[in-house]
Amino acid sequence: MLRLNDLKKHYQMGETIVRALDGVDLSIQKNEFVAVMGASGSGKSTLLNILGCLDTPTEGSYVLNGTEVSHLDDDELSIIRNEHLGFVFQSFNLLPRYNALKNVSLPLMYSERSPSEHKERAAEMLELVGLGNRMHHRPSQLSGGERQRVAIARALVNEPDIIMADEPTGNLDTSTSTEILALLQQLHHRGQTIIMVTHEKDIATYANRVILLKDGRIIDDYTNTNN
Ligand SMILES: Nc1ncnc2c1ncn2[C@@H]1O[C@H](COP(=O)(O)OP(=O)(O)OP(=O)(O)O)[C@@H](O)[C@H]1O
Ligand SMILES: [Mg+2]
Repeated sequence: MLRLNDLKKHYQMGETIVRALDGVDLSIQKNEFVAVMGASGSGKSTLLNILGCLDTPTEGSYVLNGTEVSHLDDDELSIIRNEHLGFVFQSFNLLPRYNALKNVSLPLMYSERSPSEHKERAAEMLELVGLGNRMHHRPSQLSGGERQRVAIARALVNEPDIIMADEPTGNLDTSTSTEILALLQQLHHRGQTIIMVTHEKDIATYANRVILLKDGRIIDDYTNTNN
């Protein structure tokens, strides 16, 4: 599904170079649930942003679904994102003026399906994440966990090949986090490929594979046998 070869992301900061990613080799297959772990500053978000085509590497290769994407421009990257990827962020990133249904249907704006089909599809995704009874609530009228469920429904609505989640439970209490992780695990069991960034070991246990970053390099890569 995706492959990185000797991938680097360096930032020039005055005299010094920050090596946010410094030679990453990685393959991820369809239907893996991968947790990217590491201390603050180890390069997790940088890696996820490149995997999510939100950013491009300084050096090295990134092949996604058979396409070399490391040299694409912003417009080409946005097409890839819209067609292949779904995003979940720590801060939910929902539009406050719109209700859940409208927030979830937004990524379909560019699709060829009709508005009524958009609505139907968005409603289906909200049902899937357990929010069938919250479709007409705006974000401010939802709990944190419900907001993240809306964001997950929105990430799913385009049938993405991969869901990218950066600290998806970072703003949630422990029990709500557990519910969100159980939901991601359920999606994984339905065949969804998921890449999730976390700095907490407990959270990584929900994934079936854990990649550990340190100073912009992968220092461990192991399989969780319990799920
Ligand atoms: N735009 C930038 N310019 C310069 N340095 C950057 C930039 N973005 C990130 N860095 C540096 O690259 C390194 C990796 O950052 P990154 O955000 O990927 O870390 P992280 O593992 O996600 O950390 P956290 O757990 O705190 O979110 C850090 O040292 C950071 O300071
Ligand atoms: Mg980060």
